[in-house]
Amino acid sequence: MEYRVLKNCRVCGSERLREYLNLGRQPLANSLSNSPSGKSKKYPLSVLFCQDCSLSQLSIIVNPEILYKNYPYNSSVSNTFRNHCLELAHSAKMLLAPRIYRGRESKHFALDIASNDGCLLERFRDCGFDVMGVEPSKNLAEKSRLKGIPTANSFWSSNRDYALCDPHKPDVITATNVFAHVHDLEDFCRAVHKNLSKDGIFIIEVPYLTNMIRNNQFDTIYHEHLSYFLLRPLKMVLRFCGLDVFRVEHRDIHGGSIRVYSSREKRKVESSVWMTMNKEERDGFWDFKTYRSYSSRVRKIKSDLGRIISREKKLGKKIFGYGASAKGNTLINYCGITNTDISGIIDDTPDKVGKFTPGASIPILSHNHLDTNHPDYILMTAWNFSSEIKEKTGHLGCRYIYAIPEVRVD
Ligand code: TYD
Ligand code: ZN
Repeated sequence: MEYRVLKNCRVCGSERLREYLNLGRQPLANSLSNSPSGKSKKYPLSVLFCQDCSLSQLSIIVNPEILYKNYPYNSSVSNTFRNHCLELAHSAKMLLAPRIYRGRESKHFALDIASNDGCLLERFRDCGFDVMGVEPSKNLAEKSRLKGIPTANSFWSSNRDYALCDPHKPDVITATNVFAHVHDLEDFCRAVHKNLSKDGIFIIEVPYLTNMIRNNQFDTIYHEHLSYFLLRPLKMVLRFCGLDVFRVEHRDIHGGSIRVYSSREKRKVESSVWMTMNKEERDGFWDFKTYRSYSSRVRKIKSDLGRIISREKKLGKKIFGYGASAKGNTLINYCGITNTDISGIIDDTPDKVGKFTPGASIPILSHNHLDTNHPDYILMTAWNFSSEIKEKTGHLGCRYIYAIPEVRVD
């Protein structure tokens, strides 16, 4: 089956789901094609709000075997992300008591779920941890092994045995930017509970829905992201599985994320947990009305961006995108931008260069293409890395078009 329709909320089981944003039928945002005439299959893309636990979730679930067949994402490309990972490893270390094994102090052990190319685990290793990754994509698992990181090539599930190669269970399990991809959250968290050492900690990082709503980041909506989280539903699903949240931190990464720390053994619940919960409620994020006005702001972005791009094209200007991100593809396809509007999208990931974006079929080009083809404008299709992109292109003297949080030209 290619996809199935969601009937109940994946956290609380409620049937009281209401649609607040419909982006139409869209291709899978990471399914880059090898030829300009490659046709991408389209699937419905709309978001529902659970009126009982406030989880936002897609109306359908695309078969993961189709979604993740050739996952091109490669996290180590960005310095911002590398530094973020190092800081995460440090803060995990600060929470752990020394580990004594057979009378001697031994290394702590960190396991990363959906470990990608091992970017986070390299930082844990630099902080003195033994490490292990679990990664469903074959090419990424292989990349990570080449860096000397033991990696199981598998989805994370309570039914699987990960052949943990350490004398004790992990002291830290991390799941950064994977929670949104998981349909069966309860099974996922039960697998964490089963594999985590008794006094260990589980750290989740997810883009925080309040930022997506406040900053109109509708482009982070695509078929891989099944859920859009507040702390409220996250806390609920962790509790069902015997994990208690004791700390919440806010981070700028990916347009604003929350880092949620939980444990099997009770720890002192820090004020950050209650402050975050209270603020969500006070600011209206547990209320459907908030989401309605968001969807009209999204429609305005579509019309404003379309207007600017067609005006500049008529004037004969050359426009490139920078960052062949999945979110860029939602933006481009929803706003109806085509490969005659945009000459190409620049990306520094070697695996992406030479391919074409799904839907609009825009060629993905390497950075040095800009040396011979001077752009008049760069459309920020990876706005989360806009300062890095500006640094790389500042010498070209072009202008920048931003679509998020609202359309503007700089
Ligand atoms: P990203 O925002 O990480 O992911 P998503 O696909 O989830 O929306 O995508 C950023 C893209 O931008 C990624 O393809 C790498 C690319 N990129 C560069 O090419 N050069 C850079 O300097 C940076 C920071 C990113
Ligand atoms: Zn719910």
